[in-house]
Amino acid sequence: MKVLVATEKPFSKVAVDGIQKIVEGAGYTFAKLEKYASPAELLAAVADADALIVRSDKVTKEVVDAAKNLKIVVRAGAGYDNLDLAACSERGIVAMNTPGQNSNAVAELALCMMVYISRNQFTPGTGSELKGKTLGIQAYGNVGRLVAALAKGFGMKIMAFDPFVPAEKMVAEGVEVAKDLNELYSKSNFVSLHIPATEQTKGSIGAALLKEMPKGGCLVNTARKEVINEAELMQVLGEREDLKYITDVAPANYAELKEKFGNRVFATPKKMGAETAEANINAGLAAANQIVDFFTTGNKRFQVNK
Ligand code: 3PG
Repeated sequence: MKVLVATEKPFSKVAVDGIQKIVEGAGYTFAKLEKYASPAELLAAVADADALIVRSDKVTKEVVDAAKNLKIVVRAGAGYDNLDLAACSERGIVAMNTPGQNSNAVAELALCMMVYISRNQFTPGTGSELKGKTLGIQAYGNVGRLVAALAKGFGMKIMAFDPFVPAEKMVAEGVEVAKDLNELYSKSNFVSLHIPATEQTKGSIGAALLKEMPKGGCLVNTARKEVINEAELMQVLGEREDLKYITDVAPANYAELKEKFGNRVFATPKKMGAETAEANINAGLAAANQIVDFFTTGNKRFQVNK
């Protein structure tokens, strides 16, 4: 049985060593493909893999077709929009994610981004504080919940909108529940996005919501770039000189945004929300353990292509 770790953006060494130990400890063969430069390298590497661990690597139908022995693919992380689930299901391949394992790293980055943009990206001049501001959390899942907890430490007021989480749960955790997105955006100085990229959410954050934000409002995106309507973002930032956008996933029009709006916008050079040794260890080892568990006991708890 061969388990391949295919990561264009590699895990930390300590995480890779841990994955190898789990895989070999179970009697399987460990293989890795890191920093690959083209999809062709991935196609070649998956040819004889029985199990595959990836990060944001695209597991397309072509990859699935090339992986003749593949039985399970685990996205070591939360969002699995990089997996072609239909192609996996067609072949009877189980697709999983590792929910919650890298959430703390992403949540810390979201708070860090709020401080960074409030202090004018560490350029001289008067900034502002998070204390007393309202943070609107769009989707109260693993990351959103941690962002709320951290933001409370900064003295922020927390509001959230999530139609999939019972209101009582949010209220019990000291979070005010927004009745809809309009209320969330209109009452929040910061809105932090924690929604997945799906057919429903792609392009869903645009002018209508951004225009609702109070003066000086800031949108924080540690989720996916696809959820933003980038043309409308550009338009609204042009119309509202007070609004700001900070993101862990650079928009396609970032160079133009930066040129036009300077310190009101910032994007990390490469997605770094889960780029901590701790997150790598948590998600990578969970992926390896889920694979071993699947092969030995048939456990499919984290399957996402049911
Ligand atoms: C996730 O969905 O778990 C995060 O976006 C992390 O993605 P990465 O593993 O590519 O850093």
